[in-house]
This record gives sequence, C-alpha cells and structure tokens, in this order.
Amino acid sequence: MKNTTQSQNRQAIPLNLENFVQELIVESPGRINLIGEHIDYNGGHVLPAAIDKKIKFYFRKNGTRLCNIWSKNFENGFSFSIDAVAMSEVEWENYILGVVHYIHEISPGSIQGFDCIVESELPMGSGLSSSAALECGMATGLNGLFSIGLSKDQIIHLSRDAEHDFVGTKCGIMDQFTVVRGKKDQLILLNCQNLEYRMINADIEPYHLVLLNSNVSHNLASSEYNNRRADCEATLSIIQKKHPEYQYLVDVPEEVLLSFKDQLSPTMFERADYVIQENKRTLMAADALEDELFEVFGKLLFQSHHGLRHNYQVSCEELDFMVDFAKTQAGVLGARMMGGGFGGCTINIVHKDVAANYIDAISKAYREQFNIELTPIEVSLSDGAEILK
Ligand code: GLA
Repeated sequence: MKNTTQSQNRQAIPLNLENFVQELIVESPGRINLIGEHIDYNGGHVLPAAIDKKIKFYFRKNGTRLCNIWSKNFENGFSFSIDAVAMSEVEWENYILGVVHYIHEISPGSIQGFDCIVESELPMGSGLSSSAALECGMATGLNGLFSIGLSKDQIIHLSRDAEHDFVGTKCGIMDQFTVVRGKKDQLILLNCQNLEYRMINADIEPYHLVLLNSNVSHNLASSEYNNRRADCEATLSIIQKKHPEYQYLVDVPEEVLLSFKDQLSPTMFERADYVIQENKRTLMAADALEDELFEVFGKLLFQSHHGLRHNYQVSCEELDFMVDFAKTQAGVLGARMMGGGFGGCTINIVHKDVAANYIDAISKAYREQFNIELTPIEVSLSDGAEILK
C-alpha cells in the first residue's frame, strides 16, 4: 500500500485552534548535535541533545474514519482515510503518513479518525531535525490518543522507518532517539550500534552554545545524504570480503583501511577515513567535557568541521565562511556545521562575555559576504517528546 502515490487524499479541512477542543497536546523537540556527524548510520557514537524549540500537536478523536491534519504554519493541511494510507507527492505529508502506516503495521486497527493541528517553532532545513520532531511527536500523540501502548523504542524505530520509506531519506537513528529520549540539561552520548547511552552534564560555564542559522538550505541535502550512506556501505562491503569481523565502518582500524587504499576510489577512502576519525573525536570530546577541558572540546569541533568540509564533503560555502570567521575570534573555542549539512546551522562554543559581540560581528561579515541575514538561535536542553495533557 505504501508504494502508491496518494491521489485519494481529500481536500484539507481547515482547523482553527481558537475553537478546537483538544483531548491531548504533545510537545516534540528539535535536537542539536555537538559532535559525531554522519556517523550514526556507520555505527558510531554521537553527542546530541533535545532542545527547547519544539513542535506542538493538538489532537482529538473525531469518531469517523477520516484523519484531518492542519499545519498552522503553512495554513494548509490534508485529509486521508485511515483505511487508505499511501505516500503523498507533498513531502511534509509523508512524515505523518509514514508514521500512521507503521503504527498500523505494528498495531492494526488501533488508529481511528482524528483531527490534529500542528504548530512549529522549529525552522525547517536548519539542521535542528524538524523531521524527527514531526514524526516522533505524531507517533507519541497517536499512541496516547488511542492508548496503543507503544514503547519509546518502538516510537523511535517506526519514526525512522517512516523517514526511510515514505520520505526517502535513509537517515540514521540519532535524531529520533534524541527527540524521544532527550533529558533537560543533558547531552546523550549514544552508541548507535546498540543504542546504549549515557547522559553527560552539559554545563560548560563560562561558555555558551550559540547556534547560528545560515538561512541557506541547498536542496542537495536528501540525495547527497543517501549517496554518502551508499558510499560508506560500499566501502564496508569491500573491506568485509577480507574482514567479515567488522560489522560497522567505525570499527575498521585505520591501518586496515589504509591497506585497502588501492581498492577504494580516493573519495571513498577519504569518506571512510572521516568516519573513523569522527567517531574517535566524539569519544574524546565526551571525555573532554566531563573533565571540563573546554578548549580541547572546542578544537575537536573545528576538526570535525574540517573533516565534514574536505573529506566527507557535506558542507557549503556559507557554513565554511562562518566557521573560518569563528576561528579568528577570541573567546570562540570551536564551531562546526551541524546536522545533515549543505546549509542550516553552525554550533559555536563561545565565552559568555563575548557572545553578543561575536554574534554582531559574524552577522555583519556574513551579510557583507552573502547579503543574507544570520539568525542566532538561543537554545537550552530539554526533555524529549511528551504528552502535556
Ligand atoms: C540527519 C540524519 C541523522 C544524522 C545526521 C548527520 O540529521 O537524520 O540520522 O545522520 O543527519 O549526523
């Protein structure tokens, strides 16, 4: 059923919050990632956290077989029959349809008709994972509304499956995991091979986390993302012919990778090398944070960006400009692009005394260079997706 393009979706029924009597409200956060980029799908360690910028969902049952979704931001929506859930040509609808499809698969007949208003304060395409927030918030809400009894792990995995199969991005598990399991003021050191994790205190005083949204989002993001993943899988399968003991690319020792240099294209070699180094950096960064070695931590962020730019090649001119500028500024310990890449935010570790001046200076330089405004985003670390009412 999921392979057909949805032509039977009916016209949206506008829903208005002012006269909407909801049964349930859900808040689902975005996420940041301090380090460990593009290695979740390679079995690596990542260091993300849920944030206080969220998507809010208002749900009610409607006693029919029809599901009506209304986006307050887009002032648009769509309706579909719970008995005919299929992919849509409109991208954002697929996040929701995919979640409904997979809940149906796990628990047939559990969802009846419902109305839902979605209101987001998460900028899309900014590397803050508005997609996982949408998927996991929808799954958490339906789970509560219809008392389905899904576990957090089921919500994490079905949301990831929705993104793979309905949206078409072959993402890792970091975003969904973080959006569901985030904890206030904590970073999550997550091993993406087995989902074992440990919370790390995020207090970096006198430094602050500053997010700067480049306000560019190059539409390479989805296709290049899948290409990177395919490159890594191809490299691993070449190595596994001789070394079946390595189940994930991050587990391949550097000297083993080196011994395959002749069998890999230069690009594949560079990407694999990045993956192996980034996993090491993430573990070092977690230790540095725990030991309050913030300068070491900052340097690892700059190195991560260097690898993402030159070896993994998922950055862009605008992000590179921002990170290069950050390097020249006193009081800025580290900066790098964050998330899938090709636009979105950089994350910066900035001494609180210079934060305001830094934001002014980098915004001015960026405006002069690209004629685009930077948006600073203040975040604090927050709990994962939850039902408020
Ligand atoms: C996106 C994906 C994640 C992860 C990051 C890059 O956010 O959804 O799974 O791969 O990119 O680290």
